[in-house]
Amino acid sequence: MRILAIETSCDETSAAIIERGENGRMHCVTNVIATSLALHSQTGGIIPEVAAREQAKFMVPVIKEALQDTPIDSIDAIGVTYGPGLIGSLLVGVEAAKTLAWVWNKPIIPVNHLYGHIYANWLSEIAPQESDFPALALIVSGGHTDLVFMENETSLRWIGGTRDDAAGEAFDKSGRLLGLSYPAGPTIEKYAKSGHKGVFTFPRARLDTPYDFSFSGLKTAVRNEVQKLQSQGDLTEPMTYDLCYALQEAIFDMLIQTTFKAAEDLNVKTILLGGGVTANQTLTERFRAVATEHNLAFFSPERKFSTDNAAMIGAAAIMHNTPLPWEELRANPELYFD
Ligand code: KG4
Ligand code: ZN
Repeated sequence: MRILAIETSCDETSAAIIERGENGRMHCVTNVIATSLALHSQTGGIIPEVAAREQAKFMVPVIKEALQDTPIDSIDAIGVTYGPGLIGSLLVGVEAAKTLAWVWNKPIIPVNHLYGHIYANWLSEIAPQESDFPALALIVSGGHTDLVFMENETSLRWIGGTRDDAAGEAFDKSGRLLGLSYPAGPTIEKYAKSGHKGVFTFPRARLDTPYDFSFSGLKTAVRNEVQKLQSQGDLTEPMTYDLCYALQEAIFDMLIQTTFKAAEDLNVKTILLGGGVTANQTLTERFRAVATEHNLAFFSPERKFSTDNAAMIGAAAIMHNTPLPWEELRANPELYFD
C-alpha cells in the first residue's frame, strides 16, 4: 500500500509518500517539511492567521516535491490530518487532499494528528511488534500531553492527560519567562546540559486522578523565581542554565512518575513515546533507563519523525485505514480520542 500523506495542523506544512510492503514494514519514501517557525519566533508564539497564510503558500510546492518520482497511478490513497489543530491551518491540508482525491479519483483517509504521533514509532527500523502489546503510549507535544492504553496495535484508549498546559507548552511558556525565543524546548534542553542539580527545585504537581498531569503550577513557580532573581539583579547566564535544568527535571519527573504508575497498574509490556518533546534526548534517555529497570520494552520515534511531519500521518493512515468519500471530510479542530 502506498499513501500520499498531508499534515498542516499547526505551523508545519508537510507531505510524504509512505508505503508498506509485503513484509509489513513501513517505508518512508519522501517526507518534505516546510515551516513558518521563524515567523513565530519573532512574535513569541503562533498567530493562527499567520500560520494559515504560510500553510497556503507552502502547500502546493511541498506536495510537488514529495511526489518527486512517484507515479500518481501508484498511490492507493491520500491520508490527511483533519484534527486536532488550528482550523485555518487544518483547512489548507484538508482542502488540498479533497481536491487531489477528486481529480485523481482516489480514496481519502482522515487521520487524527495525535494518532500520527504514536504511529511515528512504526517508521523506525525496529518498530513495535504484536508481541509488544499491551502497551502504554505517552504523547508529549506543544498542544497535548496524553496517556493512551493500547491493547493491540490498533486499539487506542485514552486514560489520562494534562488538566492545563501541555508538556511542550510548559517548556515554551517557561522559556518565554526566561527570555528564550519560541519554541523554547530545544534551547532549554541545551541550557539544561550546562545547569547544575540542586540549585533550584520546582514543585511536582500531585493530583487526585492517577493518570493526569498538571504543568501550570510550574510556570508560576518559574515566574516567581525569575522575578525574584531579576529584582536582585542575579539572573545571570549560568543561573538561567540552572533554572533550565530544574525546570526540565520537574517536567520529566512528573511525566515518568505518572506514566510508570499507569504502566504498572495496567500491566503493560511496552512504553511508546510520541510528540515534539521526544526530540529531547535527555527525556528519551531517562524513559529508556526507567523502562529497562521495570523490564519494559521502549520505543521513541526517530528525531526526524518526532516533531510534526506528514510521514507519521501516512503511518497512521496505513494502521487505521478507514477511507471516506472526499465530500464527507470535514476538518475538526477539537478532535480528540474516541
Ligand atoms: O509535536 P510538535 O511538533 O507540535 C505539536 O503537535 O504541538 O511539538 C512541538 C513542541 C514545542 O512545544 C517544542 O518546544 C517542543 O515540542 N520541543 C521540545 C524539544 N524540541 C521540540 N521540547 C523539549 N526539548 C526539545 N528538544
Ligand atoms: Zn504534533
